[in-house]
Amino acid sequence: MNAPATPGNNPAADLPPVVAFRNVSIAFDGPPVLQDVSFSVAPGETRILLGPAGVGKSVLLKLTNGLLRPDQGSILLFGEEISHMPEEQLFPLRTRTGMVFQEGALFDSLSVRDNVAFQLISERIPDDEIDTRVHEALRFVQLEDTFALYPSSLSGGMRRRVAIARALIRQPELLLYDSPTGGLDPVTSATIIELVMKERDVYRTPSLMVTHRLQDAFTLCTHRFDEEQNRMVPLPKGQTDPNTTFLMLEEGHLIFDGSLHDLIHSQNPFVREFLQ
Ligand SMILES: Nc1ncnc2c1ncn2[C@@H]1O[C@H](COP(=O)(O)OP(=O)(O)OP(=O)(O)O)[C@@H](O)[C@H]1O
Ligand SMILES: [Mg+2]
Repeated sequence: MNAPATPGNNPAADLPPVVAFRNVSIAFDGPPVLQDVSFSVAPGETRILLGPAGVGKSVLLKLTNGLLRPDQGSILLFGEEISHMPEEQLFPLRTRTGMVFQEGALFDSLSVRDNVAFQLISERIPDDEIDTRVHEALRFVQLEDTFALYPSSLSGGMRRRVAIARALIRQPELLLYDSPTGGLDPVTSATIIELVMKERDVYRTPSLMVTHRLQDAFTLCTHRFDEEQNRMVPLPKGQTDPNTTFLMLEEGHLIFDGSLHDLIHSQNPFVREFLQ
């Protein structure tokens, strides 16, 4: 049973973080995309990253698993400093994370089975074991019967669920979701958010999720996944999930880090404008 959320009282926040950014900056050719960004993700925590288009949300996710390197600052992933770590050392850490890329990014030339198994295929795992794990991951996203299909025959929502199955295939210790509902209609988006919630509440996997849809963020805060009913159910009125909190970027800076309560009551003009 979830305890009522109290501002500033996050039960997970005292544990060693799964991810910690300290004063991270990165630029490409022009002005800095991220400047002096610091935040952390504690075990069991879901952090929802908000911000306008082009503000650096995808860049922040790619920094988290070392797909990009910062110009300045420190990034700890599972307690290890990764900002200058050689790729061969980073690889095993990255395999402990699961990433749902923006737009899903499935390979159209590969079957659903091979898309989901993608990370396992290079590891010389026997085919029948791969099949078992793919079936398990597809069962989680309720798409077992798509095993032999190709992505082109799936709807947008189904493709996104396959992308989630792919991210879960190694039972990751951290999930990175980049706009998992982007471009989907509200009803399909709700089915994707239900999966994110199921992963949060059944497996307690910490996560960092980018979304453009405030509705997704509010649903995650105000509902829990009920295993018996196999669906999301609203929390009692006035309660929010204490482990689901927010980050907001604006012009390269992290301008908000806190609870739903603090977000709604923020006096920051960018936050207020974003919420409207
Ligand atoms: N590999 C790269 N090389 C050069 N510039 C990049 C690279 N990746 C991102 N950028 C630039 O960094 C800025 C932030 O990009 P990013 O993709 O993180 O935005 P975003 O917040 O995810 O936007 P959206 O909401 O549209 O997905 C953009 O100006 C983008 O052009
Ligand atoms: Mg993006």
